[in-house]
Amino acid sequence: MEDNTALDYLEDLRDLINANLEAMIEEQCAIYGEVAELSGKILLAGGKRLRPILSLLSYQLSGGENIDEVMPLALASEFIHTATLIHDDINDESLTRRGQSTLHALVGQPKAIIGGDWLFVQGFGLGGKYREEIVEVMASYSSRLASAEFSQLDHVLDLSTSPEDYLEIVKGKTAGPFAAGCKGAALVANASQDRCEELFKFGMELGIAFQLVDDLLDIRGDERMGKPRGSDVYEGKMTLPLIHALTLLHGEQRVRLAELIRNFDDSLFDELISLLEHAESLRYSEILIDNHLERAISHLDNFEDCDAKQLLKHVVRMVQNRHS
Ligand code: IPE
Ligand code: IPE
Ligand code: MG
Ligand code: MG
Ligand code: MG
Repeated sequence: MEDNTALDYLEDLRDLINANLEAMIEEQCAIYGEVAELSGKILLAGGKRLRPILSLLSYQLSGGENIDEVMPLALASEFIHTATLIHDDINDESLTRRGQSTLHALVGQPKAIIGGDWLFVQGFGLGGKYREEIVEVMASYSSRLASAEFSQLDHVLDLSTSPEDYLEIVKGKTAGPFAAGCKGAALVANASQDRCEELFKFGMELGIAFQLVDDLLDIRGDERMGKPRGSDVYEGKMTLPLIHALTLLHGEQRVRLAELIRNFDDSLFDELISLLEHAESLRYSEILIDNHLERAISHLDNFEDCDAKQLLKHVVRMVQNRHS
């Protein structure tokens, strides 16, 4: 499949997802009023729709032929994801999301917390329609997301955080939900157990790479992200480039890096980046990203060549090159 054809097809899938989300929010506003309107505003503000796209393509790759059958599961993942973003932005004190004002900045924290909860419930209403095995996969990986966020908080400014601690957090907060969405969709298509597991592993590897890219963008991204740069360092979040540099640097440079992390502000950005570059920590993250993406692709090997497989490979390349 040509790159342009793949892009057009993915754009069509995104439009289809957006149309479904819009229709749902319109219906819900009539019933629930302001909470649906406000939460809907963040839900509909844009976003890459990567999680629902992965579910739709995993379903097709697994032989599913009626996209309506998997659509509620795909939409559920976007509702749940947006709920986590609203709560994440409260905790991270972020003022922009998807290029717009965050919900707590607009209406205050109490309503933003409830708005996030409302989206969670909508997501579980959609996902709860499926058979028990599928609900169980979605519920357990959404629950693990919460455990991982707790663990991330426990590691704030913990300069002894190891790469293994980091990887566990990333699997829980980001990659697990990716994996569950891919496996859940394969289950909807009644794929064999082996194929469900391959798609689970595909989602896990892609999700790890996705968060590694996100953490790199936080250090050197630009306004295309639609969210503030540098918030991880402000929050004291120990992302891989920092963990790597803390291990590699010695003497004065190590001491200075620790100081920068503990008392970060915008004027220190260039100094931080030059220390990370000195330790080749950004390069290290890039190599790891490529490894995880290669592994993701290898989990598609046992599936016959078809459009859905080509499109999933295209999504992998988009994750590698993303700026937003
Ligand atoms: C942001 O997710 C949160 C992370 C897991 C890094 P996305 O980058 O998928 O956000 P949207 O949905 O496109 O806004
Ligand atoms: C992903 O991590 C958060 C969730 C899984 C909710 P981040 O804290 O890096 O997300 P962004 O960068 O604010 O989107
Ligand atoms: Mg955040
Ligand atoms: Mg966060
Ligand atoms: Mg981030």
